[in-house]
Amino acid sequence: MTSGESILDVENISKSFGGVQAISNVSLTLNKGDIVGIIGPNGAGKTTLVNLISGFLRPDTGVIRFKKRRISGQPPHRIANSGLVRTFQVMRPYHSLPAYKNLIIPLNSTRVKKMRAGKLGDLDAVAIDILEDIGFERDARVPYKAAGTLPLGYLKRLELARCIALKPDLILCDEIFSGLSMSEITSLIPLLEKLQMSGITLMMVEHRLRELFKLAGRVVVINFGEKIADGPPEAVMARDDVKAAYMGTEKTK
Ligand SMILES: Nc1ncnc2c1ncn2[C@@H]1O[C@H](COP(=O)(O)OP(=O)(O)OP(=O)(O)O)[C@@H](O)[C@H]1O
Ligand SMILES: [Mg+2]
Repeated sequence: MTSGESILDVENISKSFGGVQAISNVSLTLNKGDIVGIIGPNGAGKTTLVNLISGFLRPDTGVIRFKKRRISGQPPHRIANSGLVRTFQVMRPYHSLPAYKNLIIPLNSTRVKKMRAGKLGDLDAVAIDILEDIGFERDARVPYKAAGTLPLGYLKRLELARCIALKPDLILCDEIFSGLSMSEITSLIPLLEKLQMSGITLMMVEHRLRELFKLAGRVVVINFGEKIADGPPEAVMARDDVKAAYMGTEKTK
């Protein structure tokens, strides 16, 4: 699936919080069209890496380039407008708004306006269409319910829909499978494959390794803020240092 052409280039980034070195000199390249997994034990620095790439945190050192342009130092909305978006491990929908209204902000972004060349049409209808594409069609009333009342499976889909609304080139997913049942994950996997088929690159932070490996041809292991392995899942999981990193952690199944 890989195009061989990089879309994201992370060069030697580091981030510390007081005495904690959350990310230490990490370099990483994502190729266009790939699905790459980011794995590692709890507290390894995975969410920090997502925060750094998406602009929610500034790296202390290092450079991040997206589509060959430097993005490190830019605020999240600017990075999103260039086509790089992320989901949140701890979701933050607009609780009191109907689910579909949560998509109005990305649909009103400079990026989408430009792409639609001023022809915005009925944004509510566009939002409903996106939600249906991402699995809300199972119950036609759900898009109209307040986001805060949705069960986790729908909230995870809403997170993805919020990203898709921006017509992104790259989505960083932070534990999109966590808390979901096996059948919910099984129904989400083809949707993620569909995104990949449409040309979107995915970086997926995951603890659900077996399910992740159905999608990701490559995984990067983070341990104590450092990248310790990068390659095909079987080769990476066979390494002694990766096994040792996971020893004693519970969420590897
Ligand atoms: N804003 C912050 N302030 C202080 N310390 C932080 C902050 N964010 C993260 N940390 C610390 O940085 C380290 C890495 O945290 P991070 O959330 O990136 O780990 P993670 O790999 O995503 O873990 P999990 O798998 O549990 O989600 C941890 O020691 C954490 O306590
Ligand atoms: Mg995390």
